[in-house]
Amino acid sequence: MATIKEVLNEQRIYAVMNKVPILREAEVPLFEDLIAMYQPRQVLEVGTAIGYSTLLLARHLGPEGHITTIELDETRCELAKQWIDQAGFTNRIQVLQGDATELISSLKGPFDLVFLDGPKGQYLKQLQAILPKLTVGAAVLADNVLFRGYVRGDKEVPHRFRTIAKRLRMYLETVEDKSQFNTTIYPMGDGMSVSIWKGQTVSHETDD
Ligand SMILES: C[S@@+](CC[C@H](N)C(=O)[O-])C[C@H]1O[C@@H](n2cnc3c(N)ncnc32)[C@H](O)[C@@H]1O
Repeated sequence: MATIKEVLNEQRIYAVMNKVPILREAEVPLFEDLIAMYQPRQVLEVGTAIGYSTLLLARHLGPEGHITTIELDETRCELAKQWIDQAGFTNRIQVLQGDATELISSLKGPFDLVFLDGPKGQYLKQLQAILPKLTVGAAVLADNVLFRGYVRGDKEVPHRFRTIAKRLRMYLETVEDKSQFNTTIYPMGDGMSVSIWKGQTVSHETDD
């Protein structure tokens, strides 16, 4: 067995060499501090990739904590499982292969921390599917919410990013509704939002 630090180093090198998008180094300290603060017991992660953020989450799980993580890509899924095994976390992490937007409805929950890091245009749809499975006070973290600076401000959005930018705006509009969430957006990396759910139901429409 390897130490978690050794596995994380190996994963970062693999990610750079194979162009796998994982949490940016600038975001890691914030991410780890937040997880350490919440010490979650039941975590849902969307977008495992090779299991890098999954192991960061695992490092700060609360007592008897468990992670369910979903990845669409088969090869990445298998790599994540191997590294999770090497780090000694097989019993505390379940890796599911498939489309998270479809799989979420089959999950039991309840979850006290969710990390959204899969398809950016699906965040709101996934949030709506996850809400009934959240504990009141659960934290929902979402990466890349400022998406290259195209979500907030006046920067002109290239045509190919218009849908994604629009959907991320709708996601932020939802989590910034104070009757339902307390949200902070951290600008590090590509923007990370942290939303504490107050226990109301979202009624915003998605556009597909
Ligand atoms: C940014 S990467 C995740 C990085 C990872 N969270 C980390 O920081 O180590 C996004 C991942 O989401 C996966 N993905 C894309 N669409 C998905 C879907 N519909 N369901 C599950 N995973 C999906 C991609 O294959 C990719 O590996």
